[in-house]
Amino acid sequence: MQAYLNAPIKEVISKFPKVADILNGYEIGCVPCSVGTCLLKDVVAIHNIGEENKAQLMYEVEKAIYPDREVKRPVINKAAKAKPEILRYSPPLRMLVNEHLLIKRLLNCVPAIVKALKEDTVIDKEPVIGAVDFIRMYADKFHHAKEEDILFKYFDEKADIIQAMLNDHVEGRSHVKEVLNGLKDNKIDAVSQHLSAYAELLTGHIKKEDEILYPWMDKNLTVKQVGELFDKFNAVDNGLQRGVEETYKGRIEDLEAKFIQK
Ligand SMILES: [Fe+2]
Ligand SMILES: [Fe+2]
Repeated sequence: MQAYLNAPIKEVISKFPKVADILNGYEIGCVPCSVGTCLLKDVVAIHNIGEENKAQLMYEVEKAIYPDREVKRPVINKAAKAKPEILRYSPPLRMLVNEHLLIKRLLNCVPAIVKALKEDTVIDKEPVIGAVDFIRMYADKFHHAKEEDILFKYFDEKADIIQAMLNDHVEGRSHVKEVLNGLKDNKIDAVSQHLSAYAELLTGHIKKEDEILYPWMDKNLTVKQVGELFDKFNAVDNGLQRGVEETYKGRIEDLEAKFIQK
């Protein structure tokens, strides 16, 4: 088993496809992950599924790999298993989770913006321009920059989980670029397609950060590092980016008034 614990997850899955179903059962999305080089043991350790579930998951994986082996079934406290793990964050990571809330409000407007692009006889590009401005200035320059320039620097940036997050940021930027190209060339189908793809990508990305990456980071940061991060994030919010939060909250309220509350 030790050899498989230290093997990349994609390799384990291709050898033992049942492992993919087991991971899916615990909502561990290794199958669609763009990287897939995380080791099996890290995949289990990093996901915030609770110790009881981890023991059960490891039992199921070992049985899938060695069906004939006698594997000791863990004793599961059913009440503990049924109880969802409550996610708690340190103050700096809570700041990022709160920023995700505003980004999610934009993502929530995207289907209605796209519907209008498809159905309206006179195309109004303004909401798309507003959404792109939010994505570039708030989601990317304000929020992703805090992750990339500050938070990720406290960890091994070559680690698969961080590489997967960085890949998502890059893919998101390329969708935004295509939205802008579509607007310029009047290719409204391409605008709709890439805006929807961005929303789908970021929805999954935020879920991974909120539920997997940030809880794992919190477990590995020292108290001193948490304090440093909090100082650095506050310095961003009160320095060059002062007022960004308020400005873009207002933009989202405008979009919601137009697309969600009618
Ligand atoms: Fe991110
Ligand atoms: Fe994020």
